[in-house]
Amino acid sequence: DAAPLIDGFGRRIDYVRMSVTDRCNLRCTYCMAEDMQFLPRRDLLTLEELAGLARHLVARGVKRIRLTGGEPLVRRGFLDLARELGALRADGLEELTLTTNGVLLSQMAEQLFDAGIRRINVSLDTLAPSRFATITRGGDVARVIEGIDAARAAGIAVKINMVAMRGVNDTEFVSMARWCGERGCDLSLIETMPLGEVEGERADNYLPLTHARAALERELTLMPTTYQTGGPSRYFEVAGTGRRIGFITPLSENFCSSCNRIRIAATGTVYGCLGHDQKVELRDIMREGGEGALDAAMDALLAGKPRRHDFDIAADTPATSRHMSVTGG
Ligand code: GTP
Ligand code: 5AD
Ligand code: SF4
Repeated sequence: DAAPLIDGFGRRIDYVRMSVTDRCNLRCTYCMAEDMQFLPRRDLLTLEELAGLARHLVARGVKRIRLTGGEPLVRRGFLDLARELGALRADGLEELTLTTNGVLLSQMAEQLFDAGIRRINVSLDTLAPSRFATITRGGDVARVIEGIDAARAAGIAVKINMVAMRGVNDTEFVSMARWCGERGCDLSLIETMPLGEVEGERADNYLPLTHARAALERELTLMPTTYQTGGPSRYFEVAGTGRRIGFITPLSENFCSSCNRIRIAATGTVYGCLGHDQKVELRDIMREGGEGALDAAMDALLAGKPRRHDFDIAADTPATSRHMSVTGG
């Protein structure tokens, strides 16, 4: 059997986040600059190359793949790729998931289910239409909600991702939790991370999730649970709803010691950590080097995978110049 992926700190890597495009049909203010420069299309891996890479990684013990963007559903041929990757479940892949902004979900939900996707995460930072339009620079919240409902109707579990922002959506934690409970969705709250330059000062909007948790606990009872997805979210069950709320706290409570993941950008650049530039370029190796060279490149990446991110929300410059949209988180 091919050797498992193990990093320099002995962490087993069995989860891959695969970005299929850095483009997006929204422009969230915390994620992108207004005049975002996208990767040239000619630099992208083809769908066949993405599938081949996934196959290689599954052979090395990867159990879960999460497709990300930008917005993954805007990549042409996305459903073909999803079907290819869904078929890897016969070869040891346990879960194929997707993180999306939900805009195109209502028209794609059933095909996503048919491709083998049973669980998705949808970004939804607010339920207020005008606030949503401001955060996303023009998005229509009703369309996202339709998409969420279509996914649920197709049999796909939906978790809502809400980036907590002081002065922006910090009055909505309880209403969002109740809304998720009614719809049968879990909720993840996320601390804003300093990735790439954006127009505003991220420190102004940063809200430690201890605050969100306190606000929730004034109205709802959060009970400990052993539930986990293998991701950084720490979950609690909301009494009376059967749904869960997770907290993703890169700044206020580090979780890197249990990191199990790497991320691949749409160009075939693999990054060891969301918060560092450490990387290996796989595209030319895939085109010219063959499987042995690919194995060696992956091992080199893992040997240099950083121990943890060093996010500092108060620093003048972000942890890396790379925006979240390059790796989809
Ligand atoms: P599941 O646990 O499988 O549901 O997925 P997830 O929550 O890891 O994935 P999702 O794409 O929904 O990401 C939610 C948030 O977690 C995003 O803001 C990601 O950037 C962040 N995130 C995911 N993995 C990491 C990580 O390794 N480090 C850090 N700092 N943030 C991460
Ligand atoms: N910090 C935290 N979360 C972010 N996301 C995008 N940019 C950032 C950031 N700078 C979130 C999106 C999406 C997920 C993949 O990452 O809202 O839900
Ligand atoms: Fe697009 Fe997602 Fe970034 Fe928003 S967070 S701009 S939806 S990639």
